[in-house]
Amino acid sequence: MKVLIVGGGGREHALVWKLAQSPRVTALFCAPGNAGIASMAECHPIAGEEIGRLRDFALERRIDLTVVGPEGPLAAGIVDEFRKARLPIFGPSQSAARIEASKAFSKDLMARLRIPTAEAKAFTELEPALTYLDHRDAPIVIKADGLAQGKGVVIARSRLEAKEAASAMLQGKAFGEAGTRVVIEDYLDGEELTIMAFTDGKTVIPMIPAQDHKQLEDGDRGPNTGGMGAYAPAPIGTPAVVDRVRRTILEPIVGGLSQMGRPFHGVIYAGLMMVNDDPKVLEFNARMGDPETQAVLPLLKTDLLEVLLGVVEHRLDQVSVEWHSGVAVCVVLAAEGYPSAPVKGRIIRGLDGWDDSPSLILFHAGTGKTPSGTATAGGRVLDITGVGKDFHAARERAYDGVRRITFEGMQYRRDIGSRALLGR
Ligand SMILES: Nc1ncnc2c1ncn2[C@@H]1O[C@H](COP(=O)(O)OP(=O)(O)O)[C@@H](O)[C@H]1O
Ligand SMILES: [Mg+2]
Repeated sequence: MKVLIVGGGGREHALVWKLAQSPRVTALFCAPGNAGIASMAECHPIAGEEIGRLRDFALERRIDLTVVGPEGPLAAGIVDEFRKARLPIFGPSQSAARIEASKAFSKDLMARLRIPTAEAKAFTELEPALTYLDHRDAPIVIKADGLAQGKGVVIARSRLEAKEAASAMLQGKAFGEAGTRVVIEDYLDGEELTIMAFTDGKTVIPMIPAQDHKQLEDGDRGPNTGGMGAYAPAPIGTPAVVDRVRRTILEPIVGGLSQMGRPFHGVIYAGLMMVNDDPKVLEFNARMGDPETQAVLPLLKTDLLEVLLGVVEHRLDQVSVEWHSGVAVCVVLAAEGYPSAPVKGRIIRGLDGWDDSPSLILFHAGTGKTPSGTATAGGRVLDITGVGKDFHAARERAYDGVRRITFEGMQYRRDIGSRALLGR
C-alpha cells in the first residue's frame, strides 16, 4: 500500500516511523515533511492547507491511504475533498472536526450529552461577557472559540485580568477570526491527562494515557508552548480511569456526533483535568497530540496500518489494539526564542549514527536541509523518545539521547516525566 502522511512535525515523523514498520506498506510519502522524515518517506513541498494540490497528488500517485496529522487541514475540509475523489483518508470530516475547531460547539454538545466538563458560556458581544464575569469568581478561563495554535487560552487570576482578556479577544481581535467568539469557563484545579482514542464512529478504542508538559521551563514555569515533552502511560490514568473516560466521555461524544449526522472517524483526543478522582473535559481535539504521539506510538505493538484501515473501513470492532508493557518519555528540543520568535537556520550537530533502536528514537519536528547541513526550521526542532521498563530507565535513555545533540540556543526541559517518577 502507498501511504501519504499530511504534515511535517514530530507527530508526523512518528506516524511515518511507525507505518514504515508495517509489512503491507510499500511506499511512504509526506507533505510537506521535514529533514528527518525525508530519510523514510518521499517528501513533497505541499502545505496541509493546499487541499486541491494534495488531492491531485494523491490521485496522480495512486495513494491507497492518506493520514492527516494536524488540525488545520481537517478544519479546512481535507477529508470531505478526498472522499469526493474516492480517495481513502484517515481523519474526521470538516463537520466532525468542529469538535476541535469551535470550543463553543464542543461545550454546547458536552452540556447536551451531560459529559463532565467545567461550566461555561459563549459570547460574541463584549457587554454581556463583562456582566457574566461580574457574577463569576476568579481564577476563570477565557478561551478563543476557534483554532489558535495553543495560544487562545488565558487563565485569568482576577476578574480584572479576565475582563481585559475578553476585551482583547472580542474587541482587540487578539486572535483574529478565532477570537470573534469567546468561551468563558470555570477554572478546574487538578492534574491534566490526555486520552486519545481510535474510532470509526461506532467502536471506540482508547490508547494508553499520556501527559504532556506545556510550559517552557522546568517546574511548569515560563510561557505556554505547543508542548515541551510527554510521557506514557501516565500513572494517574489507571485502567479504571481509562475505562471510565471511555464510558462517560469518549463513547458519548462519538455517539452524539454520529446522531447529529457528523460521524467522527479518526483519532479523538480528550484533554482532561482530573479533579480529585473525577475526569472532566478541558477540550477535544480531532487528531493526535504533539508531542503525546511521540510517546504513545513507540509503545504500540499492533501494526498501525491495520488500526487505521479498521477505522477507514468502519470495522474497528474487528481490530484488537495491543501495547508493549514498558513506558516512554519524549523530550522536545526547541529553538532559541521559542515560543515567541524561534531562530531558524541554526546548524544541528549529532544527527548521525542513530541506529534503528526501538528504545531510543530521534524524531524531527522543525528541521530543514540547508547547503551547510541540517538546520533548525521551526520552534520545536527535535523530539527524543526513550523507552524503558520504567520511568527511571526511559528518562535516562531519553536524556542520553539529548546529550548527543547540539545547536546554538537549544532549549529543553530537564524534568520531563519526573512527575511519573513519583508513582502517581
Ligand atoms: N477550565 C480550565 N481550568 C483550568 N485550566 C484550564 C481550563 N481550560 C484550559 N485550561 C488550561 O489551558 C490549557 C489549554 O486549554 P485547552 O482548552 O486545552 O485549549 P488549547 O489546547 O486549544 O489551547 C489546558 O491544557 C489547561 O492547562
Ligand atoms: Mg489543549
